[in-house]
Amino acid sequence: MDNVKTIKIFDTTLRDGEQSPGASMNIDEKLRIAAQLEKLNVDVIEAGFPIASEGDFEAVKRVAKATHHSQIAGLSRANDKDIDCAWKALKPAGERARIHTFIATSDIHMKYKLKMSEQQVIDTAVAAVKRAAGYTPNVEFSAEDAVRTRLPFLAQVVEEVIAAGAKVVNIPDTVGYTIPSEYFNIIQYLKENVSNVEQAILSVHCHNDLGLAVANSLAAVQAGAGQVECTINGIGERAGNCSLEEIVMALRTRQDIMPFKTDVVTEHIYASSKLLSTITGIVVQPNKAIVGANAFAHEAGIHQHGMLMEKSTYEIMTPESIGLTQNKLVLGKHSGRHAFGMRLTELGYELNKEDLNKAFVRFKALADKKKDIYDEDLDAIVADEIVRIDE
Ligand code: KIV
Ligand code: ZN
Repeated sequence: MDNVKTIKIFDTTLRDGEQSPGASMNIDEKLRIAAQLEKLNVDVIEAGFPIASEGDFEAVKRVAKATHHSQIAGLSRANDKDIDCAWKALKPAGERARIHTFIATSDIHMKYKLKMSEQQVIDTAVAAVKRAAGYTPNVEFSAEDAVRTRLPFLAQVVEEVIAAGAKVVNIPDTVGYTIPSEYFNIIQYLKENVSNVEQAILSVHCHNDLGLAVANSLAAVQAGAGQVECTINGIGERAGNCSLEEIVMALRTRQDIMPFKTDVVTEHIYASSKLLSTITGIVVQPNKAIVGANAFAHEAGIHQHGMLMEKSTYEIMTPESIGLTQNKLVLGKHSGRHAFGMRLTELGYELNKEDLNKAFVRFKALADKKKDIYDEDLDAIVADEIVRIDE
């Protein structure tokens, strides 16, 4: 496809992801994740929220020092103390440092949380961006709860923070409330109604409360967003954030109809998922897209037969593309004769038709009692009827 646009990947596993229950990591663990994120080649690593605690400050500083090519972001509220602290932590990253500052813009947040008028919020946002821009040109501004913000006001905020120096403006769905068509319209509205919008990258940051974080991010990209914020395994506040592996593989797999790509080295996806779940102890559900244990497993007989003839019959991306060496044909009660016979051949058995039929009947009887059939079970099943190829 011509004119393929590269979408920036902003990983917030170490900041928003770490905010999920049970996901806190110590500094060494954060450094291991940061090294893995650089292997993945993400554009930006949000390493933490430096003002939040001494540990967070130290972690951002250490990640800033230890990394080599990804940009390193640190979060700050829209006030001088937070911004100064973020910069202090980020400084070792030099030109790769990004200050990420935010304030809420929705009526509900302004009224109950901030107790500020629209004008006060704009003034605070502009002052914060200017302060951050005094340290680095690499400033990102987030309009917290953007999708529940009055649209003309959101457009005014975006226009003013870009004029103040923001190079990236994030439009978060903080509470996971929006749906894809609505999000598409919000981004499109901003593209059409903010006069200086081309001077900044619009970013999306979706939470998964309705299970729509990836779909919403994709819709925003289609409407013109240039950066997606996401986490490994989709970890994050409440139901989590947009999952890195899902958005990246969706963009890669459907490039036939969407002119987008990322610079992520997808072959490191599986190892990244494993590393995060080993470190945090948060298990990945078996049927999770892309990285779940069953994501490339085919048990149903018809599917196994198709896969053995031609993989693309039931596989839209290869296991190798996420760093798995081979797909798994799990033998169980739904498996057919073809898959059963292939596995026996792989194990070194050669059965004539009659023995294969007998063994298959015994296999089916066992599979009715036992969920997964292992190689040892197959050895036992065919022991009496076969001739080993290698003997
Ligand atoms: O969800 C959110 O709004 C955030 C911002 C701080 C970007 O995490
Ligand atoms: Zn968030």
